[in-house]
Formats: sequence, C-alpha cells, structure tokens
Amino acid sequence: MSYKILSKRQLNKLTFAMQIEAREIVTNAQAGHFVMIRTHQQGERIPLTIADAQGDRITVIFKVVGDTTSKLSQLEVGDVVYEIIGPLGHPFAMPKIQTLCVIAGGVGCAIGYPIAKQYMQKGVDVTFIAGFKDESEIFYEQEYHQVSNQRIITVEQPSEKYVQGNVVDALNHILKTQNVDVIFAIGSLPMMKAITNIGEHHQILTVVSLNPIMVDGIGMCGGCRVNVGGQAHFACVDGPEFDGRLVDFDALIARNQAYDYRWK
Ligand SMILES: Cc1cc2nc3c(=O)[nH]c(=O)nc-3n(C[C@H](O)[C@H](O)[C@H](O)COP(=O)(O)OP(=O)(O)OC[C@H]3O[C@@H](n4cnc5c(N)ncnc54)[C@H](O)[C@@H]3O)c2cc1C
Ligand code: FES
Repeated sequence: MSYKILSKRQLNKLTFAMQIEAREIVTNAQAGHFVMIRTHQQGERIPLTIADAQGDRITVIFKVVGDTTSKLSQLEVGDVVYEIIGPLGHPFAMPKIQTLCVIAGGVGCAIGYPIAKQYMQKGVDVTFIAGFKDESEIFYEQEYHQVSNQRIITVEQPSEKYVQGNVVDALNHILKTQNVDVIFAIGSLPMMKAITNIGEHHQILTVVSLNPIMVDGIGMCGGCRVNVGGQAHFACVDGPEFDGRLVDFDALIARNQAYDYRWK
C-alpha cells in the first residue's frame, strides 16, 4: 500500500494539514476515528485523528511538537508515508440529538471538526467553539463556518475581531440562552475537566476525547490506559471518546505529566 502525500498546507507556524492517499482507510472512516502513522521504517508510530476522508484520501491536521510530527512536516507532496494503520478507535455516535456544542482548543480543533461536520450533515444544530492562544494560531476559520450553525472563536490575547477569553467563558455564555443536548470537548485535560464540570452542573452529557500516550493503537501495549468509571480502559480500543463524568482526570493528568505531555 502506498501512502502518497497529495497535498500539504501550512495552517499556522507549527500546524499542517496533509491529504494522504489511503483509499482503503477512507472506506471505513467515520468521525472520531484516528490512524497510527509511521513516517519512516525505523520511526515511531503516532496517533493522528482523521480530520476528513473523501475519495481516495484522508486529511490529517497536526501540530509539530516533537520528533515524528517534525519529520512528517518535512515531507512534501509526492513523498510517501511509510505506514498508516486505521481507522482505529470507536467513531463518535450520538443517536437522536438536536443540538450539539463542539468545544475545541488549539490543534484539538482538528478533532472537533469532523465531529461537527458529521452532525451538521445529519441536520443537528451545531455550535462550534474554537479556542486559540492568539490570532496567529487560528486555522480552519472558514471550515468551522461550514460545519456549524453558530461559530465562536476565542483568543486569550486582546482581539478586535474575535471573542477575547477562553472556551469555558464562551460555553457559559451559550448555556445562558441556548439548549444543548450534548457537549463534545477536546483540548487540554484541565480544559476538558472544567467543561465536564459545567456540563454536569447543567445536566448535559459531556463527551471528551482523551489523548494519552499511544504506542500500538490496537490494545496490546497498555500505554494508553485511562481510569473511566473506576475501571481501567484502553483509550485506543475503548475510546478515545468517553463520558467525561466517568473519567479520572487527575490520574490522567499525573500520568501524562510523567511523560511530560502537554497538549498546547
Ligand atoms: C487518539 C489521538 C488522536 C490525536 N490526534 C491528533 C491530531 O489530530 N493532531 C495532532 O497534532 N495531535 C494529535 N494527537 C497527539 C499526537 O499523537 C502527538 O502530538 C504526537 O504523538 C507527538 O509525537 P512526536 O514524536 O512529534 O512528539 P514527541 O517528542 O514524541 O512527544 C511530544 C509530546 O507528545 C506526546 N506524545 C508522544 N507520543 C505520543 C503518542 N504516541 N500518543 C500521544 N501523545 C504522544 C509526548 O508525551 C510529548 O509530550 C492525538 C493523540 C491521540 C491519543
Ligand atoms: S496504544 Fe497500546 S493499548 Fe492503547
């Protein structure tokens, strides 16, 4: 199987979108699925969400944070990625909802985007709240418009064009005036914990997408172990989405810190 890079777009200083030929993955891909990517034969496998899947190609959006994402960013159109395994994980499936609020921080927007797109196509009323540190980090601005009825972009730095603040403030504002059936949150662990607490307060199911270290992505290594509902689960095969109320965020924060993992 050849995984040729068909397009490459730099979205901000450190974030790239790549379309990669992978017809057999497209066939089964749904929102919420991810792939394990190895750039070179001797390289490590890393998990990346399938941001889009159409025709013969998948789109991945990734932020350069270390060795493999850096190597991936150096590949160009026409180059070939050594290995892609997927689709992996469970797709995000919520029957019979009328309103969905997708809340995503930073590169987490790459994971929120396909969820919003799928539910918008199903006729669900989607609000997309995308949070960034500053204006220079914003990406996919037009795309969020296309996959939501209402889009809010927050930035932490002062801004005339966008909402100054964070996604938690924006959610609190929305919940004052609107009905939300389900919240989907993806970002840093403290952010997802805070969003889950707000959801609980308003009795709204909050689904979070967890990002522990994944080594094989197929349930064999135990690297992605998370405590959900008092039991050990593997995020790669049991998730990566879970009911936020059941997630032991403090244990996961401590475990990720052991790997010095910070989702920025
Ligand atoms: C299900 C899932 C979906 C993801 N989707 C995306 C996405 O769409 N876009 C995106 O930019 N990032 C995504 N990530 C995070 C991405 O996998 C890591 O940023 C990437 O693995 C870093 O690899 P590296 O070699 O470049 O960095 P490294 O130098 O190896 O590590 C940099 C940081 O990333 C963490 N990390 C390293 N390897 C992994 C791993 N295998 N799993 C999780 N974290 C790791 C490390 O703890 C470290 O803090 C996802 C993670 C998960 C679990
Ligand atoms: S990544 Fe190995 S068990 Fe999940």
